Amino acid sequence: MTDDASVAAALARIEADGGLDVLVNNAGIALRTGDGGAEALDGPSVLAVFDTNAAGIVRVTEAALPLLRRSANPVVVNVSSALGSFWAVHEPSRPASRFPSIVYGSSKAAVSMITVQSSRAVPDVKFNAVEPGITATELGGAGAENHPGRPAAESAEVVARLATIGPDGPTGTFQEDAGELGW
Ligand SMILES: NC(=O)c1ccc[n+]([C@@H]2O[C@H](COP(=O)([O-])OP(=O)(O)OC[C@H]3O[C@@H](n4cnc5c(N)ncnc54)[C@H](OP(=O)(O)O)[C@@H]3O)[C@@H](O)[C@H]2O)c1
Repeated sequence: MTDDASVAAALARIEADGGLDVLVNNAGIALRTGDGGAEALDGPSVLAVFDTNAAGIVRVTEAALPLLRRSANPVVVNVSSALGSFWAVHEPSRPASRFPSIVYGSSKAAVSMITVQSSRAVPDVKFNAVEPGITATELGGAGAENHPGRPAAESAEVVARLATIGPDGPTGTFQEDAGELGW
């Protein structure tokens, strides 16, 4: 996500392997001070989070577009987060309203806008953002056993749903298990 040469090499290999119909921009990071500590707010940490979570999506998607455009039904899914939803962080019933996240949350708000703007700038490709749900993963670096949430296989279902939309599927939307999520 953060290395142009690595992205180019990956796409060259995908092209040689037959092409690309679906791009899922799943990689993302949250940086903490120490094991499970507070969110890291120093400049280099902020740049690293935005480089991976936001710039990385633009970098990879731009590099992938020539291949995607050769597909009959090109689809991009950007894995975002309710922590990047202005609606969810203002909605008391949502966990995102009770979990401060200055850097990670704002990087995911950027993912949402990248998704909307991409859907308008590139109408021949469908772009949707997904909130996968709170999931027990390595996010934040403290280990899956310390991260709350459901198994990754359950959270992957909504990603798979948006990755497999047909030619009449949505574009420029933000989705979770139950359907569309407020921006
Ligand atoms: N867990 C949650 O509760 C939750 C909730 C909402 C949204 N999300 C989002 O879900 C997505 C997946 O995260 P996760 O929870 O599965 O966390 P994770 O277990 O930490 O996995 C993150 C993945 O991103 C990859 N990655 C990180 N930096 C990268 C880079 N520069 N280039 C390429 N790959 C890179 C990692 O690869 P390596 O292992 O090789 O470093 C790893 O496979 C993220 O976008 C995250 O923000 C997670």
